Amino acid sequence: MIKHESIETNAGLLIILTLIVISIGGLVEIVPLFFINETVEEVEGVRPYSALELRGRDIYQREGCYLCHSQMIRPFRDEWLRYGHYSLAAESKYDHPFQWGSKRTGPDLARVGGKYSNEWHVAHLVNPRDVVPQSIMPNYPWLLETELDFSDVQDRMRALKKTGVPYSETQRELQRNIDEFGAEVAARLDILHAEENLMQQALANNYDGQRARITEMDALVAYLQVLGTMVDFSKYDEGYFTEFR
Ligand code: HEC
Repeated sequence: MIKHESIETNAGLLIILTLIVISIGGLVEIVPLFFINETVEEVEGVRPYSALELRGRDIYQREGCYLCHSQMIRPFRDEWLRYGHYSLAAESKYDHPFQWGSKRTGPDLARVGGKYSNEWHVAHLVNPRDVVPQSIMPNYPWLLETELDFSDVQDRMRALKKTGVPYSETQRELQRNIDEFGAEVAARLDILHAEENLMQQALANNYDGQRARITEMDALVAYLQVLGTMVDFSKYDEGYFTEFR
């Protein structure tokens, strides 16, 4: 039996044993990454964010919404009764960094898309107590007053592309996206037309209720409205996703 003291007083032995322990820990964390393509389920409909939604996501991060809101519905009955189908790994595969969160001062937002109207979100973000009297959520009135700066949206998309998000820049990449997501979605993932697409989506949907301007509110509401809406769960058998758990 090796006594702890004899390990601690023998630097060589301590180093060797430390390395062994670290390698086991490393293997446990690293090896599964080589099988990630087999463990993340195949799901139709999940796509990267459009330029406008992406700017909304940046604002969500800037404002620290994740400090009070998770985006991860766990596979427990109480969770799916309240929030809907539990979150799939595939649903956050284009999120860098992911927004799973670890604190729920407010409700989970993974499937908040479509739950409320745009007007509700605008009113709620300007002053939550106008629509939910007991709310303790802070006010974010400046979102409605601040013009959205999207001058660097192409760079933001390029940065995400480096992490594996399939935004396109070349004709070949565009074609790959058309094959995978269809022409309409592929056009929105095109970095070269990002600014045009962003303006077009904001003006067509008028998320913030102000026709003439594109504000940070437009972007944030566009983002909130797409959360959890990409996968059509009626297409899958009830037990399908449990295979991957
Ligand atoms: C201090 C904690 C806190 C922060 C920060 C916060 N929220 Fe909330 N949020 C809440 C609470 C509590 C509720 C529940 C009461 C309500 O609806 O206002 C809530 C509710 C919501 C809802 C409605 C969810 C539902 O299903 O009814 C949305 C959407 C939302 N928050 C978005 C945001 C966004 C976007 C941000 C960042 C700009 C944010 N929240 C920041 C605490 C917070």
